[in-house]
Amino acid sequence: MPTYAKGLEGVIAADTKMSYIDGEQGVLEYVGIPIGELASHSTFEETVFLLWNLRLPRKGELESFTADLRSRYEVPAGFESKLLQMPRDARPMHVLRTLVSALSLHDTNPDANDLASLRSKALNILARTPTILAYYHRFRSGLPFVRPDPSLSIAENFLYMLNGRKPTPTMAKAMDVCLVLHADHGLNNSTFSARVVISTLSDMYSAIVAAIGSLKGPLHGGANEGVMVMLNEIPNLESVEKYVLDKLAKKDKIMGFGHRVYKAYDPRAAHLQSLAKQLAQDTGNADLYAKSKKIEDVMGQAVAAKGIYPNVDFYSATTYHCIGLPLDLFTPVFVIARIGGWAGHVIEQMSDNRLYRPTTDYTGPHAQAYVPMDKR
Ligand code: SDX
Repeated sequence: MPTYAKGLEGVIAADTKMSYIDGEQGVLEYVGIPIGELASHSTFEETVFLLWNLRLPRKGELESFTADLRSRYEVPAGFESKLLQMPRDARPMHVLRTLVSALSLHDTNPDANDLASLRSKALNILARTPTILAYYHRFRSGLPFVRPDPSLSIAENFLYMLNGRKPTPTMAKAMDVCLVLHADHGLNNSTFSARVVISTLSDMYSAIVAAIGSLKGPLHGGANEGVMVMLNEIPNLESVEKYVLDKLAKKDKIMGFGHRVYKAYDPRAAHLQSLAKQLAQDTGNADLYAKSKKIEDVMGQAVAAKGIYPNVDFYSATTYHCIGLPLDLFTPVFVIARIGGWAGHVIEQMSDNRLYRPTTDYTGPHAQAYVPMDKR
């Protein structure tokens, strides 16, 4: 008999060698390496190589992987005209979903699903999504495009194209650490969406676009923007406790807290907390961090006993704000990072595919007569 788990809670729907999560202990590993080690010592490019090859690269391999990626930063010829047709007041996640999908129209063989083609498409999407996002932001701001600089990492180059000036080493490192921390996370909703789509033998673009649509939701990647909205709504430190307790009393969810898997502190949140604290002090945003910490303390008193702790989105909001990202680019930056995980899972699904097709518990009527219109 099929089992019924609403929201597929606790159901194993695939196996993977990429991320390991222990929700009770608050452990996250990428291919067995603790996330804290990678955040402290690795780079986003090296982490993507690790996720896609299930091992760390040797020096020469990392250099050629990085060079290949950087050679793809430019959007295809003729793509910019599509970008300039986007409404200046559109929400960036809708623009990103639309334009990443449009990349497939510039691919001479968008449906090729052999391993080499999937890897090439993954590199193109990963390399060009930051360019698309930065170009759109410049366009909506009435500023000229800043062309990508292939001498820069993905993190540095994104901030350079966005702001028109190279980031400080501190900001570039902070951006890179955020990308590492957000790269992969088991079978979260958006990764599951990507695997479901490719399981029909569709294509990499369709799988990634489905995942972008999923990540946009406020219960998933959209939560980081929700955290920033909340921080802006709370006027000062003294107002935090009443604000949070009032929301809890109304059974409202506090964005950036809780997790389907973690019933302990999300290890990514721990790393982001220290990053947020340092950046807040460096950029004159100490009050923002203090508000965040106060929210965490009030939530700790109120709901930690229920296993509700900060998740990856809580302190990423303060971090992104201190890096200087506009609020509505927080979730799009999550997309940039998670393309690393999504593409890896698409390739992993294709290596041992089984079409996803769950069933339902039918609760409707049976044996109903068809009633002619004049008798209804
Ligand atoms: C991400 O899956 C992943 O790995 C996702 C992610 C990734 O890297 O891909 O980690 C990224 O999406 C992180 C989550 C970001 N979302 C948010 O911060 C939105 C706020 N969080 C909640 O909506 C919620 O915690 C979820 C959606 C994240 C998880 O929800 P579940 O597992 O469906 O839990 P639930 O809604 O059934 O809540 C269980 C209880 C309820 O109380 P009771 O009705 O049992 O009394 O916990 C309460 C909930 O009310 N609860 C919260 C809460 N989250 C859960 N109460 C207040 N604030 C919250 N944030």
